[in-house]
Amino acid sequence: MGEETLKIFESDFYISEMVKVWEEGRKWAEWVYQLAKRLGVGNRVLDVPCGIGRVANFLVNMGFSVVGIDISERMIQLARKNVGGATFIKGDMRRLPEVLKGDRFDVVINIFNSLGYYGEEDDLEIMKSIRQVTGGVAVINLDNRDYVIFNWPEVYYSYVPPYMVIDTSKFEPTTSRLQVHRKYIDQRGREVGQLKYTQRYYSLHEVFSMVRRAGFRVVGVYSGYSWKEFEIGDPQMTLVLVPS
Ligand SMILES: C[S@@+](CC[C@H](N)C(=O)[O-])C[C@H]1O[C@@H](n2cnc3c(N)ncnc32)[C@H](O)[C@@H]1O
Repeated sequence: MGEETLKIFESDFYISEMVKVWEEGRKWAEWVYQLAKRLGVGNRVLDVPCGIGRVANFLVNMGFSVVGIDISERMIQLARKNVGGATFIKGDMRRLPEVLKGDRFDVVINIFNSLGYYGEEDDLEIMKSIRQVTGGVAVINLDNRDYVIFNWPEVYYSYVPPYMVIDTSKFEPTTSRLQVHRKYIDQRGREVGQLKYTQRYYSLHEVFSMVRRAGFRVVGVYSGYSWKEFEIGDPQMTLVLVPS
């Protein structure tokens, strides 16, 4: 990821987007709680990347012991401010064994479409890195490429307080990357900022191949934070992985 992309994660605009989905962290935490119970694994969770701590916050409240890692200094500072009782470390998810000095976790979560910022080799590195710090189970939640291709609108309007956001997106079939041009409009209708980013989207079979290469076995695939088994037309896929 170049300096430009890191700047996006550090921007006020991006942080407003994370704040908007804060409450959804509760749903994720409840899902992780049920998963840990089903599989009988312990309570040490690694949340990577942790963003502003929206999932970590609810996990801590449920009694989990949580470590969060994110590459953005600003995200880590906000996570520390937002969440008491968890440990937050600035670090690169491609190098987790180094960042964590050999520590391992019962549950490792990678939530909210947090792959695809770099190249495919980097995503494989991330999965290998996650594998090395997984003592029990890992959870990967991604947007489903097959849904995105047929359902992603070319122009999408949303409200991310205090901004109106306009996304113009184009899916590149040769690379499976979505090119997004996002504009932020303030309450008076003035454009106050814009950003451009590109992200690789994966189909389930591609993620299967990648996680197997990283040394995982897939034990379940669900639709978002539900227990409904994933189907090809679902917007999100959540893979439950154990070391193979
Ligand atoms: C979509 S957010 C998801 C955050 C969190 N999982 C959530 O659900 O709120 C993606 C995050 O990935 C972080 N990130 C990007 N590249 C990273 C890397 N190489 N190592 C660690 N964090 C990274 C960004 O700083 C950003 O906070």
